[in-house]
Amino acid sequence: MQFFIDTAHIDEIRELNDLGLIDGVTTNPSLILKSGRSIIEVIQEICSLIPGPVSAEVAATDYQSMIREANHLAKISENVCIKLPLTFDGLRACKHLTSIGKKTNLTLCFTANQALLAAKAGATFISPFIGRLDDISLNGIQLIRDIRTILQNYNFQTKILAASIRTTNHVKEVALIGADVATMPAFVLKQLIQHPLTEKGIDIFRSDWRKTGQIIG
Ligand code: E4P
Repeated sequence: MQFFIDTAHIDEIRELNDLGLIDGVTTNPSLILKSGRSIIEVIQEICSLIPGPVSAEVAATDYQSMIREANHLAKISENVCIKLPLTFDGLRACKHLTSIGKKTNLTLCFTANQALLAAKAGATFISPFIGRLDDISLNGIQLIRDIRTILQNYNFQTKILAASIRTTNHVKEVALIGADVATMPAFVLKQLIQHPLTEKGIDIFRSDWRKTGQIIG
């Protein structure tokens, strides 16, 4: 399973990249806004740090402008993955960009049928938004399960990029289903590491070790 970090904050990316477990990055217009930086600059900098796919989202909603923006973003680096909204024009742009060898990520997916269309359009990634479905009392995890079944039924190559992850439980659930990628905010990734019994165990071992009076090495 691949782990992407869902942020446009360079400091967060740098810190988590040191862990050696980050396979890619996802951004969106809201995350670019939070970074307070130009999309071109920030995507350039992320691509210089992370060799895996870096999703950069088009802002346009019509086909021609999406393609124009996508070409602009794709020039930044080989690892840019063009993020497109799951709309008529977005699917059309996906089909075209895929046919000329660009990586694509179809975003704002809320139904299994939308994911099926993205797969047919040749999307590299489909991004079902779990947290936003949970927010309106629908079942985001069930959506990932349904998409997994549909993609497997027809042997589509599109990867499931579980998005809008808000909790460590979301990560566990999508891993159990077999999502190819989970993209998560930095705080969720850090929470995956933590357990109070781990902390308690370290305290006990450190205290007992001091009592041995020994030094290793
Ligand atoms: C994914 O690519 C999106 O950027 C992100 O996961 C959206 O998450 P949110 O619903 O917490 O904004």
